[in-house]
Amino acid sequence: MIEKTLSIDYLEYSSLDELSEEDRALVETAREAMSGSYSPYSNFRVGAALRLEDGTVIKGANQENAAYPSGLCAERVAMFAASANHPDKAFDTLAIIAADHGVICESPATPCGSCRQVMAEYERKFNRPLKIILAGEKRLYKFWKVKDILPFVFDSLKV
Ligand code: THU
Repeated sequence: MIEKTLSIDYLEYSSLDELSEEDRALVETAREAMSGSYSPYSNFRVGAALRLEDGTVIKGANQENAAYPSGLCAERVAMFAASANHPDKAFDTLAIIAADHGVICESPATPCGSCRQVMAEYERKFNRPLKIILAGEKRLYKFWKVKDILPFVFDSLKV
């Protein structure tokens, strides 16, 4: 038996001003995207902005449903819209921000397992790292690739 440890490299910022101009703009777009949230059940609005390789930005917001599992997270709304409308453009960076009952969360909202799995699929499709920015009012995280937030990802039936 060998005991092993995984470590990941990511950036933590304490303010939006510390981000590059293009990342800051992406977070601002994610913030705008929250206005498209349909979240009468949770009152938790999530906005996502996905920048494609050519600079195109696709917005997404969470969509809820009386039959709960029929709803979809903001990240997947953005990724599926991007893939459906721009199937040949690789994903570059995905920014996510959330507000609970109208108040932007202090700590970043972190994507659910299903959204991470979908991110991994497109990262593999385009063979290009998808960067992820999780924005909160007090801190923000930037990850360099999906595997950093989904270690041991399932990505093939082959072993
Ligand atoms: N939600 C997202 O849209 N993205 C996340 O990363 C976490 C959760 C949504 C799903 C649901 O509409 C609401 O937030 C509460 O879970």
